[in-house]
Amino acid sequence: MPIKDCKLYIVGIGPGRPDLMTVAAQQAILESDYVIGNTTYLGQIEPLLPGRKVITSSMGEEIARARHALELASKGNTVSIISGGDAGVYGMAGIVLEIAEKEGADANADACTRIQIIPGVTAANAAASILGSPITGDFASISLSDLLTPWEDIEKRISGAAASDFVIVLYNPKSRNRNTNFARCIEIVRRHRSGSVPVGLVKNAFRNKESAVVTTLERVLDYDDFVDMHTTAIIGNSESRIWGERIITPRGYHRKYDY
Ligand SMILES: C[S@@+](CC[C@H](N)C(=O)[O-])C[C@H]1O[C@@H](n2cnc3c(N)ncnc32)[C@H](O)[C@@H]1O
Repeated sequence: MPIKDCKLYIVGIGPGRPDLMTVAAQQAILESDYVIGNTTYLGQIEPLLPGRKVITSSMGEEIARARHALELASKGNTVSIISGGDAGVYGMAGIVLEIAEKEGADANADACTRIQIIPGVTAANAAASILGSPITGDFASISLSDLLTPWEDIEKRISGAAASDFVIVLYNPKSRNRNTNFARCIEIVRRHRSGSVPVGLVKNAFRNKESAVVTTLERVLDYDDFVDMHTTAIIGNSESRIWGERIITPRGYHRKYDY
């Protein structure tokens, strides 16, 4: 199996609960000489760390972390660099590949030096499963963090997704320094969508202190204080409905079948 020959794994560890981490992710970590990640994510995989050299880095140090991982792997070590959820979704996969590209690594290197990305359960999937079935059909995922993306671009994406009736998954709805982005986003979506459209908020999905709210677009800002950097929000489309404490977005079977 190629996983054994790899030197650098970029590992998505899922939303937080150990049993939602893939077997491949666990295997990659257990095979590694070095494990690199931030404190939160390393805390989530603590039982897998004994016997491995652990390098802790802080949020905001992603470029240095990626460089360090590539450097250690290029010296013949097996290295896991850790991301929450899936490493390709607002995670470490992009920056590691960009730096490898910049530093002239061979994109087609053989299995011994190839960078392998191990997929993980995303916050979108985790939050959706807690809310019911809000993203059964087409959905758009938008991060409200304007640290790396200009806010004008984010607004355009929100408007486009809202006007096209996509279910919208919102990542990074707030941080300490970006307290108003979520409210600004809701305001934009409201220009395109009825106030009765369901909205689900999931905080700390599959972690300690998990909590969820199901509400509507016209009421969601009543829960503005609930929303924080550990929250994923899902805004339904024009067909989504609330059933008890769940959100259902019909896939379209009702158009074709009687049931
Ligand atoms: C930098 S992104 C990381 C996304 C991750 N790579 C993924 O695939 O889900 C961080 C954002 O993901 C969301 N998130 C991550 N884990 C979560 C969880 N367990 N519960 C709810 N939201 C979560 C929050 O919106 C948070 O601000």
